[in-house]
This record gives sequence, C-alpha cells and structure tokens, in this order.
Amino acid sequence: MNVIFIGAPGTGKGTQAKILSNQFGFLQLSTGDLLRAAIAKEQPLGLEAKAYMNKGALVPDNILVSLVSGYLDGLPVGSKVIFDGFPRTVNQAVELDRMLVGRGQKIYQVLYFNVPLNVLSDRLTGRRTCSKCGEIFHIISKPSLKPNICDRCSGELVTRPDDRADVIEKRLSEYNLNTAPTVQFYKDSGRLVEIDAGMDESAVSKAVLKFLGIGNL
Ligand code: AP5
Repeated sequence: MNVIFIGAPGTGKGTQAKILSNQFGFLQLSTGDLLRAAIAKEQPLGLEAKAYMNKGALVPDNILVSLVSGYLDGLPVGSKVIFDGFPRTVNQAVELDRMLVGRGQKIYQVLYFNVPLNVLSDRLTGRRTCSKCGEIFHIISKPSLKPNICDRCSGELVTRPDDRADVIEKRLSEYNLNTAPTVQFYKDSGRLVEIDAGMDESAVSKAVLKFLGIGNL
C-alpha cells in the first residue's frame, strides 16, 4: 500500500506520517528528512540541496527522482510507504508513477492536507523538531513536557533553518507555483482525497485513519 501525503508546508503531513509509522508499521519516506540527513553527513547531494533548501526553493527534480528511486530500490517487497513531501511538481508525479509501475506497484491514493494558508506561518515558526529522533512539537499546540527536550528520546529540540518568516514566504510561493498544480494533476486523475487538516492533531489523525480504513486512534 503506497500513500502520498501532499499539502503546503506546515499542514501536518510529517506529524501524521510519524503517527502512522510509529503505530501502524508504515515507512515514512520524507524527502525533506532524507535531504536534511544528506546535509548533516555532508554528502555531495546534501551540499547541492542545501543552497536551495535554505532559501526555501525546491531542490531540482533530477536530484529528488534519483533520491527516491534509490530509496525504493532498498525496500523489502510489500512495504507500506507514505510519500511525505514527494512528489511536489507535476514532473515528479509523472516520474513516481513510472518508478512504481516499473516495480510492479501502484499508488493507493493521494491524501491532500487542506489548511487555510493564514494559519501555516504560526505552525511553522512555532515548530520544534527533535534533533535525534525527528519527533515534531509546537511551542503552543504541542509543547514538550520539559523545555527544548524531546518527550520520546530526550534529544534536543531545534528550530529548522527554513522555518524563518522570510524563507516560509518563499516556500509558500513555491507551493503555489509548483505543488498546487500537482494537487490538480492528482485531482484530474481521480486519485485525490481531501481532508480538513485545519482541525486539531487528533481529529486529523482520525480522518487519516478513516481514509486508510485502518481503525481508530
Ligand atoms: P519538507 O521537510 O518536506 O518541508 P515541507 O513540505 O515544507 O513540510 P513541513 O515539514 O514544513 O510541514 P509538514 O506538513 O510536514 O508539517 P508538520 O507535521 O511538521 O521540505 C523541506 C525542503 O526540502 C523544501 O522546502 C525543499 O527545499 C526540499 N524538498 C523536500 N522535498 C522536495 C521535493 N519533493 N522536491 C523538491 N524539493 C524538496 O507540522 C508543522 C507544525 O504544525 C508542527 O509544529 C506541528 O506540531 C504543528 N501541527 C501539525 N498538525 C497540527 C494540527 N492539526 N493542528 C495544529 N498544529 C499542528
């Protein structure tokens, strides 16, 4: 079962993907996380991607397609994958269809996280991420029990470098330019289901589980 989570930055795709991965055995393929890991390891791909990410631009399609293709090659047969943040251009969507067909798989469905754009900036500037396990917090809506310490693994909570107001603006404009047409691409092909991701986290989780038909939290 392959599922795509698509939506603007800060709509809660990563939060929900982590719940499914921690509780229901899905593999979270977050291209943002893969790119940040490549940057941390100072790999050539990471160094190339870093310049784009730090200014809020999309990383070129050819880099993403080869990253995802390599990831899929390493997966055991029958894995349940959540594509979190990929594809986000129409070209990436076409390439993903090709990659999956070539591996005898198909996309189960595409879940579009719809949130009014005016709340996204607060979600992103207030986000804190665990530097060790990647757990996601928010200073207002989901604070950690101890300041700047992860509840799950006691790692340090950090602010992502691209969660600055000026970079957020650029990310949202990239979304409108490239990813909104990708949403339309999936809508036109009858594969898109929309959820109201402006609800609180547990209500969104319930909607996601209902969509996947895998029970209730
Ligand atoms: P990436 O890391 O994928 O960032 P993004 O798409 O901008 O998405 P975010 O991680 O910002 O948001 P999210 O929807 O996961 O929200 P989250 O759950 O964290 O990509 C980073 C960069 O990498 C890109 O800008 C680009 O440069 C590059 N890149 C990656 N993939 C690429 C691709 N395919 N092509 C080209 N370039 C690519 O939640 C956000 C906050 O809100 C958290 O604090 C959370 O606690 C809170 N929150 C979550 N849900 C709720 C809720 N229901 N109510 C209230 N608060 C909530």
